Amino acid sequence: MSWFTRMFTSTIGQKLIVALTGLFLSTFLVVHMVGNLQLFKDDQGMSFNLYSVFMTSNPLIKTVSYILYLSILFHAFKGLHLAYKNLKARPVGYAVVNGKANSHWTSRSMGVLGTIILVFIVVHMNDFWAEYKFGHIPYVQYEENLQTGEIKSKPYIDEAGNPKTIAKKVEETIISKDGIDYKLTITKDLYAEVAEAFNNPLLVLLYVIAMFAVGFHLFHGFKSGFQTLGLNHPRYNPAIQFLSTWVFAVIIPAGFAAMPLYFLLIK
Ligand code: HEM
Repeated sequence: MSWFTRMFTSTIGQKLIVALTGLFLSTFLVVHMVGNLQLFKDDQGMSFNLYSVFMTSNPLIKTVSYILYLSILFHAFKGLHLAYKNLKARPVGYAVVNGKANSHWTSRSMGVLGTIILVFIVVHMNDFWAEYKFGHIPYVQYEENLQTGEIKSKPYIDEAGNPKTIAKKVEETIISKDGIDYKLTITKDLYAEVAEAFNNPLLVLLYVIAMFAVGFHLFHGFKSGFQTLGLNHPRYNPAIQFLSTWVFAVIIPAGFAAMPLYFLLIK
């Protein structure tokens, strides 16, 4: 059996795949959360829409996206497989179950937490990612006054009110009116799509519940990934513990949860 086949079939190989893909997905979440902070910018969604264009057209990011989709699949299915194997290895359970004394509850619930996150990802990608790529998101036209920085936006429609499209992902032109330069930007209005989706309290509730699952899953998962890779050293362990707790279990889920709550309650 080649090392490659062994990697996919042995328990330790599967643990390594889960750890490596998990750490990669954690990095993605940091980038995704920081990028999405542009939703909070008071510019009618222009920065967020241009960021989405960049993320879906830059060749390097597009390549990383394919690795991301594969990682989600491998992580979910190998992770669930490992959880199932652990369960099957102990079908009658211990005579005395005292999980609390041996491990944190998050470590015993990784399969359940991961499943909640997987359901969330399917709903989430169907709402935004698939809609952006394959749906019919209307275009928006921004007019930015290059002297004052003021931004106005309007739907990109013809005289009869029908939505117009452009061949490229974004079109930018500079025009002059009364001696003042304006930048016209036409692009898909994903921001409006996000704002509309988060007007639905049930969807917002799903997001908030899913972010608790993300926080608890990463609280155990991030440090456990390092452990599996053998990157366990007294000098670095406090930093890993700090990142697991504060960055991955608190800041990232709270930042994500703030987005749907902002659109529902404030915007
Ligand atoms: C709650 C706040 C969130 C918002 C507002 C948000 C927004 C978006 C949007 C608008 C897209 C499509 C953009 C594009 O294709 O460029 C997207 C893609 C995606 N999101 Fe989120 N997201 C959030 C949280 C999350 C979380 C918590 C996860 C994972 C657990 C996640 C996983 C993904 C994935 C995997 C994609 C596809 C990325 C790609 O194609 O490269 N998102 N998100």
